[in-house]
Amino acid sequence: MTKPVNGFSKLTKTEKIGWLAENYLNSDKKAVNILKQYWNEDEKLQKLHDEFIENTVSNFYLPLGLAPNFLINGNYHVLPMVIEESSVVAAASKSAKFWSERGGFTATVINQKKIGQVHFLFKGDFSKLESLFKNIEPKLRESVQPITKNMEKRGGGILEIDLVDKTQELENYYQLFVKFDTRDSMGANFINSCLEKFAEVLQQEASNAENFNEQEKDLQIIMSILSNYVPECIVRAEVSCPVNELSEDKNMTGEQFAEKFIQAVKIAEIEPYRAVTHNKGVMNGIDAVVLATGNDFRAVEAGIHAYASRNGKYSSLTHAEVTHGIFRFWMEIPLALGTVGGLTSLHPLVKLALDILQRPSAEELMEITTVAGLAQNFAALRSLITTGIQQGHMKMHLMNILNQIQATELEKEEMVAYFTHHTITHSSVIEQLEKMRS
Ligand code: MEV
Repeated sequence: MTKPVNGFSKLTKTEKIGWLAENYLNSDKKAVNILKQYWNEDEKLQKLHDEFIENTVSNFYLPLGLAPNFLINGNYHVLPMVIEESSVVAAASKSAKFWSERGGFTATVINQKKIGQVHFLFKGDFSKLESLFKNIEPKLRESVQPITKNMEKRGGGILEIDLVDKTQELENYYQLFVKFDTRDSMGANFINSCLEKFAEVLQQEASNAENFNEQEKDLQIIMSILSNYVPECIVRAEVSCPVNELSEDKNMTGEQFAEKFIQAVKIAEIEPYRAVTHNKGVMNGIDAVVLATGNDFRAVEAGIHAYASRNGKYSSLTHAEVTHGIFRFWMEIPLALGTVGGLTSLHPLVKLALDILQRPSAEELMEITTVAGLAQNFAALRSLITTGIQQGHMKMHLMNILNQIQATELEKEEMVAYFTHHTITHSSVIEQLEKMRS
């Protein structure tokens, strides 16, 4: 058992690693070297990364890949994708190529409202609270002027403030329910700062309200925070083509492909076990672009999955149909992304990723990201209903094993050829390599 540590954050990075090695890694020099091996030689760059979070001891690499040929609303894009899972970038690229030859993707931001709430308790007469709220609404708006001034110049700001009575669900519980337009920023800091100011003003005004009794004056703020559920910040992405253009495979006609594909989507629409995996495939594309562009993938994940259950049952995010011989495949998701603020101007690779995307507005990035999700789902379903996904996965798996066991380039070539016709398992790969070497 190691002892708890005091003042850990005050130690230097080297001291932190020393403490870690001594207490948790049997003073293993190799472990220390691994941590240090990932430090960047450029001290300024390393310091920048150290300061993103607290108690940084090293950097954790994830691959940054490129998926080219994404034709979106008539323009070609190459998508930067950060992901650890093999096959995802390949699948995205394949899907992009396929649809670029069939008119490409269309994507639209339907609306872009973000939401924040002041959660508070009020014991007393609701009508009095309501009239206080009506009276102080201009004051609430005025109180955040120093925060909203710049956002308003960019065309954003506070859209609506509502008082919501939630006492049917939780005793004495009310909210200020606020809608924001944060333009090209994700807006978390902006929203939270406004909400905290609203909370302060609300509490003050309640305590000074002449017609409030003592209990009513004692309005209690519980918390003020943005919501990562953004069902009024919706993006739609779509592809379509004549059914007969769908097939690239002699074994399956376009009609057969469409039928099986739509059936696979329908299964995900009604069966939550399948829907979760189906949507996980969508998120493979979305998260990879969200990460590359320095956005908050946890917020995106939480919001999208909540949306997938908005009708009381977790369901597919994507939908497909054939009408009058035209196959259509589409998705609408809530997505709050930013292209200014946060990591976007700090992390050199994030800046570069946004350059690669030709400096998109938040709306354009939302469209591109949604397309990445739709493309990924198309690729996954296409594999699943035709060859199965293991074929592609196992090829990458083979490379991972070969890299792990430090096979030479020549050995890799021979092994890839051999395993085109043999089943890949960890042990079969090792066995074959040993045979080859002996
Ligand atoms: C794997 O990361 C994603 C898939 O499982 C998605 C799906 O099943 O649709 C292939």
